[in-house]
Amino acid sequence: MLSYTSIIYALFFFFLCIVFQIHRWRRCKYPILTDYPIFGMIIPLLWNLPRVHDFITQLLKKQHRNTCEFMGPWFTSMNYLVTSDPINLHHMLSKSFDNYVKGHEYHEIFEAFGDGIFNTDSETWKYNRSLFHSILKIRDFEMFQKKIIQNKLEKSLIPLLDHVQQQGSVVDLQDVFNRFTFDNICSVVLGCDPNCLSIDFPDVACEKAFNQIEEGIFYRHKVPKSVWKLQKWLQIGEEKNMTKACKTYDQFVYANIKSKREELSKCRKNNEMVDLLTTLMKEEKGSQVVMHDDKFLRDVAFNLFVAGRDTITSALTWLFYLIATHPLVEAKILEEIKENFGTINIEKKLGIDELKKLVYLHGAICEALRLFPPIPFERKQAIKGDILPSGHIVNPNTIILFFLYSMGRFEEIWGKDCLEFKPERWISERGGIVHTPSYKFISYNAGPRTCLGKDLSFIQIKMTTIAILSKYCVQVVDGHVPILSHSIVLLMKNGLKVRITKREI
Ligand code: HEM
Repeated sequence: MLSYTSIIYALFFFFLCIVFQIHRWRRCKYPILTDYPIFGMIIPLLWNLPRVHDFITQLLKKQHRNTCEFMGPWFTSMNYLVTSDPINLHHMLSKSFDNYVKGHEYHEIFEAFGDGIFNTDSETWKYNRSLFHSILKIRDFEMFQKKIIQNKLEKSLIPLLDHVQQQGSVVDLQDVFNRFTFDNICSVVLGCDPNCLSIDFPDVACEKAFNQIEEGIFYRHKVPKSVWKLQKWLQIGEEKNMTKACKTYDQFVYANIKSKREELSKCRKNNEMVDLLTTLMKEEKGSQVVMHDDKFLRDVAFNLFVAGRDTITSALTWLFYLIATHPLVEAKILEEIKENFGTINIEKKLGIDELKKLVYLHGAICEALRLFPPIPFERKQAIKGDILPSGHIVNPNTIILFFLYSMGRFEEIWGKDCLEFKPERWISERGGIVHTPSYKFISYNAGPRTCLGKDLSFIQIKMTTIAILSKYCVQVVDGHVPILSHSIVLLMKNGLKVRITKREI
């Protein structure tokens, strides 16, 4: 039998080891993950939680082929294979696509996504993918979306920035973009504009609920499943907020679905391109209308909100931060706009083909997406055992995390200047865009699940950037250092505080 004294000695020794290890992490340039009894490798991760993305990047840089195992605390099912090796990703996302799925656990963690495209595999995913493809990839939809954005830029964003500039006040540009993209996505998906973007910065419950859900999903990655499940059951902490936020979102969307159904029952004959919900409600197979139930429409809406809204907010926020802190890049973007279109004013509507001429701006957007990918990490689950090209063994059901954020910061992929914001790296000698394989420039994913909104996103980002930059100078407030958020979308935790001044032409 163990005596109390020996137990106390054992505990004392154990904690001494931890203190010693913490001391080493602090002094060591590269983090070392020790696999402790009971705790696994969670302690250094928790210790570095405030800078988790950079911590993981440094860790992966030191591993063979940027790949390692992460062992969570005992009995928590938090063991992962972590990789950011492009060849491994090519293998998982393309070559052995069928073996690497989102899986059951993903479905649980991302339950707010319902049975939408992001959250499903096999036949349900295929159905969703072809449905989204048939809508998002048609020219009419591109034009419809462009019209909504143009309208929002003219009627809301520019007047708001004008007001901020006249007041001389500091504004959180990320909040502005959040409101801008929320109004846009509501118009595109639901056909209604909640007018979040206005000079009195109204509190819109659904918009807040949405952000809350995304933070809640990130939280479910940080703690063992048993912990968040218990919190959910007891309705406490982050899980309580999540339930409340989901309820708010559902109320908002179901109310929209109801009124759309009523509207449609009164008048069905209209072939104009309209919002997505109406398009789906009017969908026909042969001469029969396809009946999608309310839950299906709710899930479609939720998935598109995440796909087409937060990603754009994130991309715009980081792009403006990088432009504002790189005056030479800003000057070159403005020069390119002038060279192609003369002096720009917001009323001058640029066509999609005209936007494609802006190669330097395209390069700047790619750079922002490389350094700050809106979706900073993804997860997959293996169905069968496998060996990755890096030689790492994958057992059946292994969960694999891959970090898009880290991949933008590897010298092996981008060269010694990988941490610099250099739009030039995207421009070929002949003045076109350099093609980089999607498993290296991974921000839009790769393989059969590649993002369906890539072209749409470039249109939106270019239109918004031209509208703002040609009228205003954006200056980051002195001393404001952006902090990466803990969410499934890479935002700034402390927003982007800027001053706006009129650009002298
Ligand atoms: C800068 C903007 C964007 C970025 C960086 C981006 C990135 C991504 C990424 C990384 C994925 C894979 C996610 C996963 O499988 O977990 C994805 C999927 C997807 N994206 Fe985007 N996205 C952007 C904008 C958009 C827009 C504007 C739309 C549509 C309006 C869109 C529609 C989709 C859809 C439908 C999928 C699901 C594809 C599938 O699973 O088959 N995205 N996107």
